[in-house]
Amino acid sequence: MQIFHTVNGLRQSLVAARSTGKRIGFVPTMGNLHDAHIALIKQAQQTNDVVVCSIFVNGLQFGLNEDWDKYPRTLEADSGRLRDAGCDFLFHPNDQEMYPNGLDTQTRVICPTMTDVLCGASRPGHFEGVTTVVTKLFNIVQPDEAVFGMKDFQQLAVIRRMTEDLCVPVVITGAPIHREPDGLAMSSRNSFLTPEERPKANQLYLSLNWIVSQINAGNRDYKTLEKQASEQIEDVGFRADYISVCNSKTLQMAADDDRDITVLGAMYTSGARLIDNISLN
Ligand code: PAF
Repeated sequence: MQIFHTVNGLRQSLVAARSTGKRIGFVPTMGNLHDAHIALIKQAQQTNDVVVCSIFVNGLQFGLNEDWDKYPRTLEADSGRLRDAGCDFLFHPNDQEMYPNGLDTQTRVICPTMTDVLCGASRPGHFEGVTTVVTKLFNIVQPDEAVFGMKDFQQLAVIRRMTEDLCVPVVITGAPIHREPDGLAMSSRNSFLTPEERPKANQLYLSLNWIVSQINAGNRDYKTLEKQASEQIEDVGFRADYISVCNSKTLQMAADDDRDITVLGAMYTSGARLIDNISLN
């Protein structure tokens, strides 16, 4: 695996690959890689000749009181895992390389409406940071396909919408959520759970599943279901940020006759904010 820290270095190598007709797959990450990330690499390998992974803890998508400074930076372990997985290129730029003109004056990409709800409501500016960095990364890598995990369902929907609206020539693929044996969705932020919290941290998943079973049984009182699921989470000692039954495409509250529904949730533990979702067919 070749490691690049500069835009120009990576671009030159990708020009060479592209000129021999190779199809390029891309997996953007913020590092601290776990099995779910490696599954994204494997998925990208299935449909591409060359796979690029980026590791960049993007300051633009973290709020002032969020965990940018304590976000785990584990480059050595990450590059070992990527090498073992057969990843071809790792792009690991620093802040100066990604934002040479500074964060404050950086041109931004804004995807309205969809980013004001759910995680966007409690993390103002977060999705603007994501769409901006992903656009930059797409311009740097120019992949044929980019693979994102479905755990960040809102992020995936926003990126799909952004690429459609801006005619970005890249196929966006969503990869299934990877879960621990008790159902907890794999996340870099799970490392912030205390030993006391960890056995109860699957409550978000259990409560989302409970809503799904209620809907499947014909219950369409989404507001009450959301409230009851939040109470279940609070009963085990966490704080629900939101629990929402949404239209999967628009991310607005689901209507009674909506059939493409996703139940999404976020909850606070003592040191992390965890998210999860389940889609109904
Ligand atoms: O999902 C993530 O890890 C990040 O939001 C992403 C897509 C790499 C952009 O920084």
